[in-house]
Amino acid sequence: MDEDQENGVTRRQLLTATSVAASGLGAVAAAVPFVVSMQPSERAKAMGAPVEVDISRLDPGHLMVVEWRGKPVWILKRTEEMIERIKQNGEQLRDPDSEESIQPGYVDPVLRSIEPTLLVMVGICTHLGCSPTFRPEQGDPEMGHSWDGGFFCPCHGSKFDLAGRVFAGVPAPTNMTIPPYYLTQNQHLVIGEDPNNTGDIA
Ligand code: FES
Repeated sequence: MDEDQENGVTRRQLLTATSVAASGLGAVAAAVPFVVSMQPSERAKAMGAPVEVDISRLDPGHLMVVEWRGKPVWILKRTEEMIERIKQNGEQLRDPDSEESIQPGYVDPVLRSIEPTLLVMVGICTHLGCSPTFRPEQGDPEMGHSWDGGFFCPCHGSKFDLAGRVFAGVPAPTNMTIPPYYLTQNQHLVIGEDPNNTGDIA
């Protein structure tokens, strides 16, 4: 088993993720300030080391952004109501059970997370690498009255739900990427490492 598989992401999946990384970072940085991750050093992060983030003060409905391997990673604390909306989207989606999409095997295929309320996702569109915007409001005037909240990529119009699952009929071919991650017992999030490699809760 190679290193990528140990992290819960296959090599094919990792290559796909890397290829779309470069152009999306600036857009997210402009939209949402980056949160300073706690560890490790900038050089170690650039080389791919896991990053650890305190999420204890992240409020329901809010999104924060950290950098991992030069890519923006979104951390969204979903509300129970958001979760219910996600469960209604199935028929409108291209890959509702994430069978063709990049995510570790230990996350739920529908909510795409370990814990239902906490979404951890690479904030890059799977079409050509732009960074989608966060559009959590139902009926957002720019998205239309039937919009149930999610993410919108303005580059070519791809739409994703609040689990990063792509809607049918848009250019993006797959759901957005879920990286390896786990949550520690003191409400810290470790991004870039599989929970099976630790003694912490998943
Ligand atoms: S890069 Fe997002 S729709 Fe094309």
